[in-house]
Amino acid sequence: MNIINILNKEFHDKDDIIALLSISDESELELLRAKAEEILFKHTGDKVFLRGLIEFSNYCVNDCNYCGIRKSANVGRYTLKMQDIIDSALWSASQGYGSAVLQSGERRDEAFVDFVCEAIRNIKEKTKSVILPEGLGITLSVGEQSEETYRRFFEAGAKRYLLRIESSNQDLFSKIHPKEQSFENRYRCLKSLQSIGFQTGTGVMIGLPGQTIEDLANDVLFFRDNNIDMIGMGPFIPSADTPMNAEIYPWDKERNLSLALKMIAVSRIVLKDVNIASTTALQAIKDGAREDGLRFGANVIMPQQTPQTVRKDYQLYDGKPFLSESLNDLSIGLRIRVESIGRKLALNEQGDPLHFFNRNSKF
Ligand code: 5AD
Repeated sequence: MNIINILNKEFHDKDDIIALLSISDESELELLRAKAEEILFKHTGDKVFLRGLIEFSNYCVNDCNYCGIRKSANVGRYTLKMQDIIDSALWSASQGYGSAVLQSGERRDEAFVDFVCEAIRNIKEKTKSVILPEGLGITLSVGEQSEETYRRFFEAGAKRYLLRIESSNQDLFSKIHPKEQSFENRYRCLKSLQSIGFQTGTGVMIGLPGQTIEDLANDVLFFRDNNIDMIGMGPFIPSADTPMNAEIYPWDKERNLSLALKMIAVSRIVLKDVNIASTTALQAIKDGAREDGLRFGANVIMPQQTPQTVRKDYQLYDGKPFLSESLNDLSIGLRIRVESIGRKLALNEQGDPLHFFNRNSKF
């Protein structure tokens, strides 16, 4: 079947998705991009929602084979002071970013869970007078936790959670993680988050060693079958201080970037009303690639809000951009970049994923 016919289908099966992800011809790629953009505008509008990203700690109990802040990586460890976290959130609010993402390495101890709950409550309380009646929306990205902990986070006021499945291929998941981490537990966590009522985000790395186009097609089906509300995916980028460094796994930048853009477009076409982030990892491969992510169907950007002093210690992969720019320059640059492709920043809006409401109204 030709690409135009596939793009015009209402429902896409695995073969359709594989065909779309296999596009290499420039004019077909433009057809894919244009279709994704059309569906984006129809289902979620043309605005770009903003989530100020606060990487508040890089301590981690895990040793993921790909990650630059894995337990055994040689980086300076930090946890921001509560006041620094609040200040970052207040800065986000002052810029009109409707929500903040609190992200860190994984810890499950009581002190950590308490600290996160307190940070959520503080941000809610302190941003109420600055933005929206309810204050900043809060998304958490602090990994696998018990159901009880997720419940505590929710009650403290976080309403969104990001937990990437990394790959829906269980063998590949096992290859890139130490044996202490299981696909089953990651999946259980996603299900707990959904049952508690979180707007739930997941995603994968694209271009992992050994990952096939069929695996990526299965990832898109995983998002659909599991009723995921938010997607954050990016190209795999080797990190020097890890077992999956570029010497062991030489990588093809251009391929990973182009596959990542196609994954965004195909996810938009298949999933329609979800939020999709154009991630920093795209920008790490090529300047302007984050804007390309928006052009290929993404509608969320997570601007860096981590204080400059610690940003260098939160490099999940090599070549992470925006390590030294001031928050002010980043904010101005972001607006210019987004407007340069004819899109607008959604200011003072939480920007909930419509899918969350659509899926809940079906029951
Ligand atoms: N390349 C690309 N993405 C990475 N992440 C971690 N390490 C890398 C890497 N080397 C992503 C993972 C994780 C998210 C926070 O960062 O998908 O879930």
